[in-house]
Amino acid sequence: MWILQNLLFTLCIALRYVTSAVGVIHVTGYVGNEVNVSCSYGKGYESYEKYLCKNDCGNSDVLIKTSESRKNKYAIHDDRTARIFTTTISDLHSVDAGKYWCGVSRIGKDIYTEVELKLMPDSCCDNMTKLEKYEGYSESISCPYEIQYQNNLKYICRGNQPSTCRQQALITSHSRKHGRFRLDDDKVSGKFTVTINNLVKTDSGSYLCGVQRNSDLDVFSAVELEVKEWCCVKSTKINGTAGHPLTLQCPYPPQHLDNRKFLCKGDHRNNCTDILRSRSRFTLQDDAASSSFTVRVTELEAADAGTYWCGSDSQWRVGNYTKIQLSVDAGHYVGYTVPPLLLLLMCVFAVLVYKCKHQKAKDNETVMNINAQNEDALEEVMRVAENHIYESQEVVIYSNKETAELQNAGNDYEDLGEDEPDLNVTTEEIFCNGNFHIAN
Ligand SMILES: *[C@@H]1O[C@H](CO)[C@@H](O)[C@H](O)[C@H]1NC(C)=O
Ligand SMILES: *[C@@H]1O[C@H](CO)[C@@H](O)[C@H](O)[C@H]1NC(C)=O
Ligand SMILES: *[C@@H]1O[C@H](CO)[C@@H](O)[C@H](O)[C@H]1NC(C)=O
Ligand SMILES: *[C@@H]1O[C@H](CO)[C@@H](O)[C@H](O)[C@H]1NC(C)=O
Ligand SMILES: *[C@@H]1O[C@H](CO)[C@@H](O)[C@H](O)[C@H]1NC(C)=O
Repeated sequence: MWILQNLLFTLCIALRYVTSAVGVIHVTGYVGNEVNVSCSYGKGYESYEKYLCKNDCGNSDVLIKTSESRKNKYAIHDDRTARIFTTTISDLHSVDAGKYWCGVSRIGKDIYTEVELKLMPDSCCDNMTKLEKYEGYSESISCPYEIQYQNNLKYICRGNQPSTCRQQALITSHSRKHGRFRLDDDKVSGKFTVTINNLVKTDSGSYLCGVQRNSDLDVFSAVELEVKEWCCVKSTKINGTAGHPLTLQCPYPPQHLDNRKFLCKGDHRNNCTDILRSRSRFTLQDDAASSSFTVRVTELEAADAGTYWCGSDSQWRVGNYTKIQLSVDAGHYVGYTVPPLLLLLMCVFAVLVYKCKHQKAKDNETVMNINAQNEDALEEVMRVAENHIYESQEVVIYSNKETAELQNAGNDYEDLGEDEPDLNVTTEEIFCNGNFHIAN
């Protein structure tokens, strides 16, 4: 009984001591992170021992003393010049929230300052602005803020972790422009805008707009950006021969009918160059009826090889565009050496010629000796192949329908579109009619 009385008495004294604190220090931290609890003390106490304690600040409630510097998840530092001692509590969990005391040990009763630690989840926010854009375009993220923060630092970071956002900011109102990012602060209307240029797929994800506050956690708003892959590009590969003419077929979206048409060269459509403006060998003809234009090159050069874009909107707004990858063969080795690929093609011709002749022979009801004819056939094939490969004009057509029509009209064409042409004319037949053109 006496012990209990004594204990209560001690407790009362302790409570009296700890409640003698003036003012309460409010500290907020993020769960999983660390927080600094700073307490100032009066002149003359520089060399005294300081500590942080929890609950009622009994002996077992002391978490760390300045004589220890580091203990468990606590670290302490006494700045005697500024007369502030700071305790860092790391690895914060929700149980760490609550009441603490900063204490200064001295003879008689210690000096206490009450600290209230509040914890927040390290994520943001309930509300999220969703933005969608195609790659290659730019996007402006609008970040509103309360007018009282006009002159505070603004920033944006990736992810949705407020605790590390400022350290990892992509751009702040101090730097304004950095790489593809630009930040404009409109202090009058209370919003800042972050513009990201030349969007790439990896720009997709969460962003946090942050405003720095001096004595409290920064304020944030969240944005979710989705950068979609560029829509509607049809790719074709074309082989041309140096010194020969070439016609490129460019279908365009019907909604671009009245736009200026152009052919643009470059790996990326963002920074391709309008070829018609710089090369006189290229001429464009628009055919509104078929919703396509053709570009004719009078004499192909090796340097013409590369990637071309059929342009029908200078802004490259979403639409179906055609990308052409042109490779140019040097056409001058005819008669000197026969490259393996050509040899292979010649063999194909040989078979075709043979089959063709065989067919015609049957038609004429003339029975021929197959073996005896082989040599003759091959010789002729070589000549025919050379003529066809090096003297024919290469015309390229994408439209399946047109291909079939033009084939029937008796011209030399090849289909280089991605889709299989729906031709009712077989390769063999075309060759037999003298219309076969090197099938790439
Ligand atoms: C706590 O203070 C230390 C030393 O000044 C500093 O490096 C650290 O960033 C601070 N931590 C927080 C969460 O503010
Ligand atoms: C969340 O978004 C809605 C609609 O945009 C808005 O009306 C509301 O005020 C927002 N809430 C918060 C907390 O920002
Ligand atoms: C063209 O743009 C692409 C994508 O934006 C970029 O990767 C490339 O380096 C640019 N090329 C030139 C020559 O600027
Ligand atoms: C592109 O073409 C495809 C197939 O013809 C069509 O389904 C699609 O809607 C077109 N896209 C645009 C943006 O015009
Ligand atoms: C173009 O020529 C290259 C070899 O030079 C060949 O690999 C490719 O298949 C050809 N492409 C077409 C579409 O003819």
